[in-house]
Amino acid sequence: MARVLVIGGGIAGLWAAVKATDAGHSVELVTKAELAEGNTRYAQGGIAAALFPDDSAERHFADTIEAGAGLADPAAVRVLVDEGPDRVRDLIRFGVAFDRGESGLERGLEAAHSRARILHAGGDATGAAIEHALVATVRRRAVAIDEQAMLVDLLVEAGRVVGALVLAASGAVVERRADAVVLATGGSGCLFRHTTNPAVATGDGVAAAWRAGARVADLEFTQFHPTALAAPGTPLISEAVRGEGAVLRDAGGRRFMLDVDHRGELAPRDVVARGVWRRSLEQGGAPVLLDATSLGGAELARRFPGLDAVVRAAGFDWAREPVPVTPAAHYAMGGVATDLDGRASLPGLFAVGEVARTGVHGANRLASNSLLEAAVFADRAVRAITASAAHNSGSESRRAVRDASAHGMSGEASGVVHATPVDRGELQQLMWRHVGLERDEEGLAAASARLDAWTPPEPHDRRSAEDRNLLDLARLTVAAARARQTSCGAHFRTDDPSIAVSQLPTALDREAA
Ligand code: SIN
Repeated sequence: MARVLVIGGGIAGLWAAVKATDAGHSVELVTKAELAEGNTRYAQGGIAAALFPDDSAERHFADTIEAGAGLADPAAVRVLVDEGPDRVRDLIRFGVAFDRGESGLERGLEAAHSRARILHAGGDATGAAIEHALVATVRRRAVAIDEQAMLVDLLVEAGRVVGALVLAASGAVVERRADAVVLATGGSGCLFRHTTNPAVATGDGVAAAWRAGARVADLEFTQFHPTALAAPGTPLISEAVRGEGAVLRDAGGRRFMLDVDHRGELAPRDVVARGVWRRSLEQGGAPVLLDATSLGGAELARRFPGLDAVVRAAGFDWAREPVPVTPAAHYAMGGVATDLDGRASLPGLFAVGEVARTGVHGANRLASNSLLEAAVFADRAVRAITASAAHNSGSESRRAVRDASAHGMSGEASGVVHATPVDRGELQQLMWRHVGLERDEEGLAAASARLDAWTPPEPHDRRSAEDRNLLDLARLTVAAARARQTSCGAHFRTDDPSIAVSQLPTALDREAA
């Protein structure tokens, strides 16, 4: 039996906690907000898996590889598509009630999938349904749950991760020791001015892993979702809406995506996001329009009840009129580099879910593969922890007897003076402007110089701990984007010498957008 510290309360963390408890480990789950808060809860489209007779793991494999723009790791994708169906069956056993029609499970179509294979729940509330079922499952297990507790740093001794420093709800920074630490802290959308992510998505796990010396990879690949509602908070409008027939129109009412790609609105997400971005630039910064009127009011309310409420609350009647949309940062393809069992490069450390870079997504994630990736690789990580605990049982139980103790790192105690605090709003604007959907060396160099002028704050409270993570991650992201001088997937360089001038936007007025 090992002592397992899971950090994160989305699908990846909950999955790891449940399966690790079932495998006989002693599990503590630390989560930054309440248990269900995080990107999982807001996932709308659903979870992709080859479960239907007209589909196959081979087709899912091919679609994932193609969307990944040549950089997805075939071995990781193979694991994902082969083990995915069993993990979806596990979810059903955990109590997720995927939507059903007369002929069984309903399935949706999303961009770059050659088959309709997306299972959904509550219409557009798949993530919430998964969180609900997994939270109930974890609460039935003997998992020690520590809510409102944020990862500050990993503890490393003799090259091995032996726990974490956690900013507890009380404001004290405390040690949590473990034989295995499973990072499941999610994404980093808050690096950017516009994001579909909730406020907790500040890249805490990637930044902490990097500071501890773990390898991180592919940070230049941020996925921008093409259709966030152009309204305060940029709420996501699921790709599933386009899968059901909605189209994108420019300010003149013209359907423009077919000029960009023969797959139109269902081209891979990076292609559609760039198409939306450019058309918006070309029309002076005015948002493009998502036209879902062909679906009709009754179907929009039935199939997308949550979205229907969000869109109407923002003042739009999408059954009658097209609604303004804009790209927004949505998902981090890069993260803590892992092997096929979620192992990071430092012994004792695992990373699962969005915080990880398993290689499954390459340069552009296929829609609705993220929930699947989290379940598949969290499951494998627990199996690897179990195998290793059986192998090392003597030494691990000796380490496990050290209990958590107060750690002298609170801001009050350290008396740290914050001479050059990071301006989070400026950082987010900088990242949006220079490290957004289109990049070039001039902009990246400007971003790098500004980021270098800030000193990372001492992590004395949640805000400063998050700001330190955002600054670390912004610097790493800019460095990665500068290093990759050619365009690939979601990383698009307008100064890539292989791009024809005719492919560049006609109006590069980034300020306007
Ligand atoms: C969406 O519903 O459009 C998002 C799904 C995803 O990010 O995979």
